[in-house]
Amino acid sequence: MPSQERLSVIVLAAGKGTRMKSPLPKVLHPVAGRPMLESVVRAAKGAGAEEIRIVVGHGSQLVKAVSENWGVVCCEQKEQLGTADAVKSARLSDLEGDVVIMNGDHPLIEAEDIRAFVSEFRKLKADLAVVTSDLKNPGQFGRIIRHQGQMVAIVEAKDASADTLKIREVNTGIYVVKASVLRNDIERIQNKNSKGEYYLTDLIAISLAHQRDVEAIKASPKVAVGVNTQEELARATRKVHARKIRRLMEEGVMVIDPKSTYVEESVKVGPGSVLYPGCFLRGRTQIGSFSVIEPNVFVSDSEIGNSAQIRAGSYLESAKVHSKCVVGPYARLRPETVLHEESQVGNFVELKKVEFGKKSKAAHLTYLGDAEIGENVNIGCGTITCNYAADRKKYKTKIGNNVFVGSDSQFVAPVTVGDHAVIGSGSTITKDVPDHALAVARAKQFVKENYAPKAPAETQAEVKKEE
Ligand code: UD1
Ligand code: MG
Repeated sequence: MPSQERLSVIVLAAGKGTRMKSPLPKVLHPVAGRPMLESVVRAAKGAGAEEIRIVVGHGSQLVKAVSENWGVVCCEQKEQLGTADAVKSARLSDLEGDVVIMNGDHPLIEAEDIRAFVSEFRKLKADLAVVTSDLKNPGQFGRIIRHQGQMVAIVEAKDASADTLKIREVNTGIYVVKASVLRNDIERIQNKNSKGEYYLTDLIAISLAHQRDVEAIKASPKVAVGVNTQEELARATRKVHARKIRRLMEEGVMVIDPKSTYVEESVKVGPGSVLYPGCFLRGRTQIGSFSVIEPNVFVSDSEIGNSAQIRAGSYLESAKVHSKCVVGPYARLRPETVLHEESQVGNFVELKKVEFGKKSKAAHLTYLGDAEIGENVNIGCGTITCNYAADRKKYKTKIGNNVFVGSDSQFVAPVTVGDHAVIGSGSTITKDVPDHALAVARAKQFVKENYAPKAPAETQAEVKKEE
């Protein structure tokens, strides 16, 4: 049995990220909707880290503010003197057990990856392990130097000879090390290299010289994927989306065109649901089974039940759509909107803070805000709740069950309409309407016969001239 030592994770995130050319600290750039540093922290937590220390430097105030509720400790690195100096800034004196060191800009890493490295490290009973990977284009990564199969050193690309640069096995920047070994050996690292920095990679040769057991753990190239430029950021985002789509398909979700479907990792979709091209599902969104999300639908932090249809071009934000509802095409559901079962909201309908009852319909061109609509209500085309008053306050419209609202009606809130009431088309309702009543509030039509001449006088004259 491998020993169940305490596990701590140090995340290096103090670097400037110059190549991002962005005022935002690099590690806060979102990959598929989540700051990349958060993905790394989640992976570390998922792997069972009891403690996570983030080394911050550039943009530290912002990084600290963003990570405040993640249950991590931020340690300041005063000057960016290299990766070994960064690790030292994590206050090694009180660390115990095993330590994983990783970079804050490797957003593809997952809990299983870290768990596998730690368990391999424990199985090998190593003192220090470096996670390596074979890359087609090893680029600027540090190269793994082996002698008779045994890793003996890491050489940075900038310090490497042409022959060394040909090596395709690289340092992914992930290490597992015993806290006591790290604490002792890191002190011996010097900055005699082309960049004048303290390289953490020098730990390998130093620990070997101290007769430590130093191992390399081979991992897939995805672990090595870091983000240094906007282009790499977009590539990482594409990879995370693609991974999510793949997993959804494995779980029985039908995706018409995986390449043009965007689903963030946190989203849940039930089996039997269908995702059309161009839909974008974000945040805490949850979708049940057998629901259909048509092209170009944007859904953020919303719940959608079973057998619902969200038709093309709709936009949902913090809304709740119960089972068998039909939304859109081109509907907008704003926060705190709840559509109860089997209700329908059609094209160019906007709802904000609305309880919309079971089997009710608002099929076209409607705005409902701060409203409670009962069951089985028909909201005619062009209906508006006038919720915002001259005093700059919002007021509520309440409409009971089985109400029929004729087209082009306005409700000047606060106003209440009872069950089974009928609102005549074109009404501006300013007073409460009791149950079963008919309310008509519009100018009366009058008809004056023979009001208009058959044709205007000039036209008659023109006609005569031509004759
Ligand atoms: C480092 C490794 C290299 C490896 C690569 C993997 C060293 C010397 N080299 O190179 O072997 O292949 O990672 O991506 O370690 N950082 C600080 N403080 C500092 C310097 C860096 O916090 O003073 C942080 C950065 O924010 C970054 C990480 O450490 O998250 C790596 O630093 P970076 O300068 O990008 O190292 P690489 O040149 O990529
Ligand atoms: Mg880097």
